[in-house]
Amino acid sequence: MEWTEDLSVGIRTIDEQHKELFLKINDLVAAIKQKTCKYKIGDVVKFLEDYIIFHFGEEEKYMQEHNYPGYLKHREQHRKFIENFNRLKQELPKLEGGKNPGSYDLSVETNQVVVDWILDHIVRIDRDLGKFLQRL
Ligand SMILES: [Fe+2]
Repeated sequence: MEWTEDLSVGIRTIDEQHKELFLKINDLVAAIKQKTCKYKIGDVVKFLEDYIIFHFGEEEKYMQEHNYPGYLKHREQHRKFIENFNRLKQELPKLEGGKNPGSYDLSVETNQVVVDWILDHIVRIDRDLGKFLQRL
């Protein structure tokens, strides 16, 4: 997955956060290929846990500040992602000093959920927001 300029929403902090997500998911893809992902997935899940709260909050703040007409619909998608993610998170065994790492299946599933999110949400919904913000 590669972040390209045409995915820019025109707000630097949001673009930087999107790039960060692409980097994380590419790391995970590489770890899946190398079959080391079960040691990586705990880290990725922890990253996502903080990321979604912070990043969605940031986007929602911009939408509210500028009375974005698609705000409620957009926020609803964020909520659905959080629900999906929470379900995934429950599958992660408690990491006890690396003795009990996550599984290959969970890594693949998490990867799929985030890739779907990038293709559906970042590429379409966030870009619509970007177009709106850039017209202001
Ligand atoms: Fe969004």
